Amino acid sequence: MKAACFIRRIRQIRDSTSLRRSPIAMATVLINEIPVEIGPSETLNCIQAAQRAGVEIPSYCWHPEMSVVASCRMCLVEVGDKKPDGTIAMQGKLFPGCQTPVKDGTVIVSNSEKVKAAQKATLEYLLLNHPLDCPVCDQAGECGLQDYSYEYGRGYSRLQEPKNIKPDKNDIGDQITLFTDRCIMCTRCVRFTREISGTAELQIVSRGTHEEIDIFPGDPCNNKLAGNVVDLCPVGALCSKDFLYEQRVWWLKTKNSVCPGCSTGCSITVDQNEDVLHRLKPRVNEQAQGHFMCDDGRFGWKYVHSEQRLTRPEQRSQGTLVAHDWETVLPALRKKLQDATRHAPSKFAVVISPWATVEEAYLLAKYAKTLTSQARLAIGPVRRIGADDLYPKDVHGQPALPAKFVIRAEKCPNRRGVEAVLQNLQGSVVEFSQILDQISRGEIETLFVLGGDPAGWIREEDVEKLKNLKLLVVEDLLESAASRQADFVLPGAAWAEKDGSFVNHNGLAQAIHRALRGPQEARPDGRILMDLSERKGLFHAPTLRSEIGREIPALAALSIGELGELGVMLQTPIVTEKPRLQPT
Ligand code: SF4
Ligand code: SF4
Ligand code: FES
Repeated sequence: MKAACFIRRIRQIRDSTSLRRSPIAMATVLINEIPVEIGPSETLNCIQAAQRAGVEIPSYCWHPEMSVVASCRMCLVEVGDKKPDGTIAMQGKLFPGCQTPVKDGTVIVSNSEKVKAAQKATLEYLLLNHPLDCPVCDQAGECGLQDYSYEYGRGYSRLQEPKNIKPDKNDIGDQITLFTDRCIMCTRCVRFTREISGTAELQIVSRGTHEEIDIFPGDPCNNKLAGNVVDLCPVGALCSKDFLYEQRVWWLKTKNSVCPGCSTGCSITVDQNEDVLHRLKPRVNEQAQGHFMCDDGRFGWKYVHSEQRLTRPEQRSQGTLVAHDWETVLPALRKKLQDATRHAPSKFAVVISPWATVEEAYLLAKYAKTLTSQARLAIGPVRRIGADDLYPKDVHGQPALPAKFVIRAEKCPNRRGVEAVLQNLQGSVVEFSQILDQISRGEIETLFVLGGDPAGWIREEDVEKLKNLKLLVVEDLLESAASRQADFVLPGAAWAEKDGSFVNHNGLAQAIHRALRGPQEARPDGRILMDLSERKGLFHAPTLRSEIGREIPALAALSIGELGELGVMLQTPIVTEKPRLQPT
């Protein structure tokens, strides 16, 4: 499965002329007789140069973000030089492709009998003590040993002696477990904790055939990036306790998305089966976060299946919230909002959470301004916790600059996107606290809140203030003190249940995609808002983004509609941080 993905990927790369040919071609490298041009500022090893030619050189220990140790020997290739007179001189021995940089005239051969024999021998060695427990191994289906054994291996083992069985280590971390005898000692996990997290919990103990990955006694691998070692492990040695024995990976359906846990906006994949979310994994995006993600984001999605989810639209009747169908609630709400804004046009406010997508913010803000041009548009609470958390750490636990990964203090995915919409439609960004003050003073009687932050959006002491309202509409994910007090409750969707886009701290707009359906009657918020505002057509995020891009200069980059796998960078600054203007 993994090999098929890789082959598809390298075909895409090979078919892309722009990637294969650098604008200023300087060096030409021959890979299995295929010429590839390397740009003057590029430093590539044989594996990377071969990828560019559409050739796979198998590898285990090499990772583009970490130091090269060339220990697994899976990437051995023949290397030589093409002389100016056209003759080729090959070196006598094989070289690890990961550790061999290419230059003009480098010749790489990865498909000779000599290389194939080395690959077979390497795999036979790596599999010597590896248990044949694929049927119960979580990694089966996406395992580097399975795939390479099939592609490059011998197909049988000549080992007569008993395998060297080592004890599993379930206590290696709160979120990770180690099946010690599956380890091929590539040291990716060890290097990650030394070079990326900087926390250095993992190490190799013993030597030779007895060597094992282990922790220092009493110091488990619990750093905030620890889950990445599971992704990095090319075999099923390091496994996620959260995912262990949950699913066979071939049952999972995967969609690209963005982690909503903070304003870094890590590119991720969402794996689900039968509308149950099982796993988030990072997706490489150099403009977002790079190769990794943090454990807060990786394991922080459980609220998606919370029992506190709002599941049915409700309308207050004789003091009690009563569940109805959407066809009843939405027209009733529309009528109430029309009456309220006709009666007191200046006393209507809308609060849009920084967890809402750009499309939802646009739909709701537009609708509010259609009801009354005096509608006050505010952004919901922007949750911040502490300071940005930079990695790697030094021996004192302080950031060792330059940072390779940042978990941001701003715990929402789309403040910049929502602010851009509000700035454009209102000329200012009003904060929720100002709206609460105005409610207390009786200046606002009707409030529509689009929530979405699973940690809630209103403090207990502020809930009382909502009692001053004549009409409260709450569109949210989870039940709260505010939703219990609302006149209308609209069950919205979690980020994994809808299409849309988020703009991260750096102005990178990325698309999120609907991976699963929400519970019962919960609906994607964009669809709810389209129906409520009686917009023609169905909710289609790329179409709406095109409209938004045409209308809002700061979001002009969205006009392309489809944002691709990596997103687009907004060209212009979105809003000035200060001053925040008072509502008009
Ligand atoms: S546990 Fe996995 S990542 Fe770590 S050395 Fe072993 S095979 Fe490599
Ligand atoms: S850094 Fe932020 S966006 Fe990235 S995984 Fe962690 S919480 Fe999610
Ligand atoms: S990938 Fe080159 S030796 Fe391991």
